[in-house]
Amino acid sequence: MTVMVELTDVRKLYNGGSPQAAVDGVTLTLQQGEFTAVMGSSGSGKSTLLNLIAGLDRPSQGRVLVDGVDVARLSETELARFRRTRIGFIFQFFNLLNNLTVLDNILIPAQLAAVSPAVARDRATALMHELGLAEKQMLFPGRLSGGERQRVAIARALINQPLLLLADEPTGALASRAGEQVMERLTELNRRGQTILLVTHDAKLAAAYASRIITLSDGRVADDSRLKASPEVAPSDVLRLRPGEASP
Ligand SMILES: Nc1ncnc2c1ncn2[C@@H]1O[C@H](COP(=O)(O)OP(=O)(O)O)[C@@H](O)[C@H]1O
Ligand SMILES: [Mg+2]
Repeated sequence: MTVMVELTDVRKLYNGGSPQAAVDGVTLTLQQGEFTAVMGSSGSGKSTLLNLIAGLDRPSQGRVLVDGVDVARLSETELARFRRTRIGFIFQFFNLLNNLTVLDNILIPAQLAAVSPAVARDRATALMHELGLAEKQMLFPGRLSGGERQRVAIARALINQPLLLLADEPTGALASRAGEQVMERLTELNRRGQTILLVTHDAKLAAAYASRIITLSDGRVADDSRLKASPEVAPSDVLRLRPGEASP
């Protein structure tokens, strides 16, 4: 198995924040192909953990390796490039640009990474098909449902073919059925090899879809359980265990 993320005794204290570390000595390894959910009460350090892995924030102490790269050692320019090309990020409130069409929203990261327009367009088309957005590509986000907006955000996060997809409460703003649909799409991506780390409040969604659940408490790993095989281990098992097959 290939290690995708390796955290060693990572601490994060915010300047001017509480003297209690937001992330307090976390050591963990994520393998390529895993679909991991991070759970924990509000303020337990979930977003901080994701931001540290994404290189959006730097650890106060300890080491964060993503695909073998020590994120804290990169310059700002290298880090920006690293984020753009290796990491896809999805947020609770989609963060789409309302004055751009679905297609143009999806293309933004490719343009920032100077991917050739023809290649970017092909990837966007494939992603829109995969995510059930083909008919929506010329619409503006304001015309879409919450679930559709989140699927646009997923396509945008994947356009540069990141090694790692990070999602901070991606179903938090969605009705339960739309949330399940987003999780089903993520499961499908994971089945095809995408490594995913997702923060959720929803224990039912985490248990139904993730292959591993890490629970944080006061910035520490309180529990770390593998629930079922990740696709790299046994794709057929994951398929068989996939929930929601019967629903339309
Ligand atoms: N930018 C910040 N400045 C100061 N404190 C912060 C900042 N972001 C988060 N915190 C604090 O760090 C702790 C963990 O926050 P966070 O990672 O957002 O938790 P979660 O996502 O689990 O709700 C909380 O006590 C929060 O108040
Ligand atoms: Mg959070």
